[in-house]
Amino acid sequence: EPVEGCRSNLTGKHILITAGPTHEPIDPVRYIANRSSGKQGYAIAAAAARAGAKVTLVSGPVALPTPPGVTRVDVETARQMATAVEAALPADVAIMVAAVADWRSAGEAARKIKKDGSGSVPPLQLVENPDILATLCRSDRRPPLVIGFAAETNDVIDHATAKLARKGADWIVANDVATHAMGGNINRLHIVSAAGVESLPELPKDAAAAALIEKVAHALA
Ligand code: CTP
Ligand code: CA
Repeated sequence: EPVEGCRSNLTGKHILITAGPTHEPIDPVRYIANRSSGKQGYAIAAAAARAGAKVTLVSGPVALPTPPGVTRVDVETARQMATAVEAALPADVAIMVAAVADWRSAGEAARKIKKDGSGSVPPLQLVENPDILATLCRSDRRPPLVIGFAAETNDVIDHATAKLARKGADWIVANDVATHAMGGNINRLHIVSAAGVESLPELPKDAAAAALIEKVAHALA
């Protein structure tokens, strides 16, 4: 059941959400990461739970409390996130907000890499991570509504439109991280779909989340 005052009703729906960054180990003390705070993804999970949905939140490492009524699965790497997403299926809706690291170190060193005193730097070989969103879109267990996110610094709508086709998602929700820095508390979301582009006003992340969840509920109705 939706909480008092919530305008959306997602009772009986399972919503799968990814959020946060991933950490890709280089050696036991170092990793590759990014500036994702997890705030927007967590706000979306909270809004979906308030609307009465069953929510599975697959989360990279963040410093945020689990929203009420949300089942949280903690992961560290992109590959772990891919496995956790697969394990959480089936779902009615997937909303992939995580800033998945595009590359990981080709070989995680078993021991801390040490300076050898000569000033030479260790070679860091990168390999591409699996694309969790694209894989889900192509899978035979694809949820009926799959939503990706895109944090861009330039040509926001063009890049999001290209991603919509490349990933096979139903919607790409784009935001401009040049004007709204990652880690902040406000966002301006642009929902790109086959129907066109709908730009929301600049909103606190929890209000942007509520607006997105309202659109999801409308799309399922
Ligand atoms: N994504 C994913 N797995 C990856 C990379 C991205 O599931 N390995 C998802 C993100 O969670 C997001 C969407 O794909 O929902 C778009 O991510 P983004 O990083 O913007 O797309 P990329 O294809 O990685 O393109 P870019 O070169 O702009 O980073
Ligand atoms: Ca990327």
